[in-house]
Amino acid sequence: MAAANEPEVIRDKAAMRAWSRRRRAEGKAVALVPTMGFLHDGHLSLISAAAAASAGPVAVVVSIYVNPSQFAPTEDLATYPSDLAGDLRKLSATGAVTAVFCPLDLYFRGSAGRPTGASAGAVSCLEDAGGSGHESWIRVERLEKGLCGSSRPVFFRGVATVVAKLFNIVEPDIAVFGKKDYQQWRIICRMVRDLDFAIEIIGSEIVREADGLAMSSRNVHLSHEEREKALSISRSLVNARTAALNGNNHSQQIKHQIVQTLTEAGGQVDYVEIVDQESLVRVEKIDRPVVICVAAWFGKVRLIDNIEIQTAS
Ligand code: PAF
Repeated sequence: MAAANEPEVIRDKAAMRAWSRRRRAEGKAVALVPTMGFLHDGHLSLISAAAAASAGPVAVVVSIYVNPSQFAPTEDLATYPSDLAGDLRKLSATGAVTAVFCPLDLYFRGSAGRPTGASAGAVSCLEDAGGSGHESWIRVERLEKGLCGSSRPVFFRGVATVVAKLFNIVEPDIAVFGKKDYQQWRIICRMVRDLDFAIEIIGSEIVREADGLAMSSRNVHLSHEEREKALSISRSLVNARTAALNGNNHSQQIKHQIVQTLTEAGGQVDYVEIVDQESLVRVEKIDRPVVICVAAWFGKVRLIDNIEIQTAS
């Protein structure tokens, strides 16, 4: 039993679903904030958005699960930072979180091995005698291509599938996603629309450090020097927006300027794209609401960031 203000920690899927149903029976909306843990102020702002999302009483559930299926074998699953005890302290301190869902067994790999976090000896109905594991996936076919999907081809399949699983287990009325992961947010909105999940999706604004760096769990891996260099991302995005608002609507010119700034700062650009805010289709001219999306490496850390521009000239 959790003390007053302390969120209840739930690990079991059936227990989570039952908990949510009880909250709804009490007349509360259930608001879910899906995370992979190692929480920072950006996550805490998602929790504030969740707590404020309904006029009536809300039960806020934060899920913490480092989802193995969204990492390619070459990516940083093994070094993804985690600190569950610290996360639980931060969540308690908000006073706004009613439950923390920390599932262990969302994916099964059958005889090929268990996913990270699965408890040894657990038995799953998803594993059959032939040893096949999880084989049902959600793909948001067009939106998952391009931007981060180009260099991370399995990423959005893993994200959409685990988020759908969390939706099925937690059965939230509301779910909150950060707009730093812009493509992810749009993909989840589309999945909810296409698959008729009765869930309101809220996109929450990017939270930045005082110097402009977008908050990210991966920032902890930046050296002091890399962090200084990485400030070129937010700086170049702000300059690009100023240029666009001052009448430069040529995407190529603006992208070129950003690439140059990042490269001069010592970054290795993965992509710089200017895309329609909803369809994420590349635009040649900035003549509608667009978002400039950037991914770049500083040292061994891949950072993403973006800025929306609401110009309609
Ligand atoms: O944004 C994240 O932290 C993850 O991609 C999410 C949405 C929790 C799915 O694993």
